[in-house]
Amino acid sequence: MDIKSAEFVISNSDVAKCPQRPIPEYAFIGRSNVGKSSLINMLTNRKSLAKTSGRPGKTQLINHFVINNNWYLVDLPGYGYAKVSKSSKKKFQKFITNYFEQRKQLAMAYVLVDVRHEPQPIDLEFMTYLGINEIPFGIIFTKADKLKPKAIERQVAHYCEVLLKTWEELPPYFITSSSKKIGQDEVLNFIDATNEE
Ligand code: GTP
Ligand code: MG
Repeated sequence: MDIKSAEFVISNSDVAKCPQRPIPEYAFIGRSNVGKSSLINMLTNRKSLAKTSGRPGKTQLINHFVINNNWYLVDLPGYGYAKVSKSSKKKFQKFITNYFEQRKQLAMAYVLVDVRHEPQPIDLEFMTYLGINEIPFGIIFTKADKLKPKAIERQVAHYCEVLLKTWEELPPYFITSSSKKIGQDEVLNFIDATNEE
């Protein structure tokens, strides 16, 4: 799929105020600093469409971007960031769960995980939550530039093994690097195919 246009639409913390066009949307979720905002920039060939930072906790709101004027990409705050206060964590959980449970346009969620890390309970729990809410999801392994191909293979195989302890089937998954532009076609083509369903 070619990206002909990619525009920021709106940020907010209230699912009711998200854009109302009935077009499919895809949301990126995962731990803070895993590379959600960077992935949006990589996929859309834009340097700073979504704001990124070396410090976790950069994205604080639900951010909508409209792509090719016919689908949305959504950048979300990360979970698992220990430095925010308990009350802001609670608020975060509420607006994010409201988003996932109420957003009618949501065609699929992508859970981003750092390819270098062991499967983390917080990510596996979030996948279970998506499953309970019947939200289709895929996994995007990020920062593939940080490992050699053999190590990536090993990490991904191990992740799949862990997933198969709870899931009957593996979700679609993708190996990406935003800094080396790995996985752009794979993710975009998958979204394209989902859009046509
Ligand atoms: P929050 O908004 O805080 O939840 O973080 P995020 O998941 O949006 O992460 P972000 O895209 O801001 O990236 C976090 C850090 O990881 C930045 O320093 C990025 O440059 C770096 N990063 C993101 N993707 C990659 C990648 O593919 N490879 C490498 N080496 N670094 C990456
Ligand atoms: Mg971000």
